[in-house]
Amino acid sequence: MNRVLVTGGAGFLGAHVAEQLLRRGDRVRTLDNLDPFYDVRIKRRNLERLRAAGGAHHEFVYGDLRDARTCARVVDGVDGVVHLAALAGVRPSIQDPGRYMDVNVTGSQVLLSALAGQRRQVPVVFASSSSVYGGNTKVPFAESDPVDRPVSPYAASKKAGEVLCHTFHHLTGTPVTCLRFFTVYGPGQRPEMAIHQFTRRLVSGEALPFFGDGSTRRDYTYVDDVVAGVLAALDRAAGYRIYNLGGAETTSLADMVRILAEALDRPARLERLPEQPGDVRITYADTTLAQRDLGWRAKVPIREGVQRFVAWYLAERAAGGVA
Ligand SMILES: NC(=O)c1ccc[n+]([C@@H]2O[C@H](COP(=O)([O-])OP(=O)(O)OC[C@H]3O[C@@H](n4cnc5c(N)ncnc54)[C@H](O)[C@@H]3O)[C@@H](O)[C@H]2O)c1
Repeated sequence: MNRVLVTGGAGFLGAHVAEQLLRRGDRVRTLDNLDPFYDVRIKRRNLERLRAAGGAHHEFVYGDLRDARTCARVVDGVDGVVHLAALAGVRPSIQDPGRYMDVNVTGSQVLLSALAGQRRQVPVVFASSSSVYGGNTKVPFAESDPVDRPVSPYAASKKAGEVLCHTFHHLTGTPVTCLRFFTVYGPGQRPEMAIHQFTRRLVSGEALPFFGDGSTRRDYTYVDDVVAGVLAALDRAAGYRIYNLGGAETTSLADMVRILAEALDRPARLERLPEQPGDVRITYADTTLAQRDLGWRAKVPIREGVQRFVAWYLAERAAGGVA
């Protein structure tokens, strides 16, 4: 049995990863400061779910990644680290770049420094993002593509995180795996993300904010697939590695609206808006490396994943959970 630290464990991905680790018999310590980026009640409910799934095998530490003493405490005695804590989201990072750098870059360094101060080396998995590919037009995106032209502070902070991880690996020999997640969705998805937001608006009859002509494309990845990739990366850690975790197919914004409207059997009313600065035209993962080294590939096709998300959303709404 392993003891795993999951930073950002009260968040969308963190709670899913922690729950799966608990289910397979690991002990889990989650660190989170319950940042109010979105409704904190969602994070509290995630923690309740972890308490139910893990009982005494789950320990929650309320604290800030940027605090060295907190980090020294949470890394103590663990056998692996999944570092997911961050400020997520491209558009808000443009409004407040300094805070994104503070949490995502300085915070990551504080955590890595705490790990460097430990006698034992334990594998680290770092949550990077498809956004590091910036305006890359060569598709699908491969890990060997240049990623030195990020187009948002969020993307720059994730690229910086990968760089810090490399330095940490180089100096300490600790195995570090950076995973570039491609738009993750599924039960519990952050409420400001498109699939969740569109679902909420379709159900309540509101117009959908529709940026550009609908031709931008995203590679969506179902959360269970991403969790499987995170666990595989933790279990097979070696050296310094970077892998794309993506669905390896793309869906246009217009098609996503159609898929959701069909799944909910509701008409879609669009509020047409200009494309947003910082947004990219396409994300599309080449997952050859993850298949080769981690035996990983996404299994849940987009229509099935959307059906599962919608079923979760409607059940939560009926139970008074999500607004
Ligand atoms: N969801 C996606 O589609 C996606 C895509 C690419 C990358 N990522 C990355 O995956 C990770 C998890 O994303 P998510 O969608 O679950 O986001 P999330 O916002 O739900 O989870 C992040 C968690 O980190 C916590 N946190 C923020 N600042 C903190 C701090 N200073 N100290 C301690 N905890 C702090 C937040 O309270 C939150 O619970 C992030 O690093 C994100 O950048 C997510």
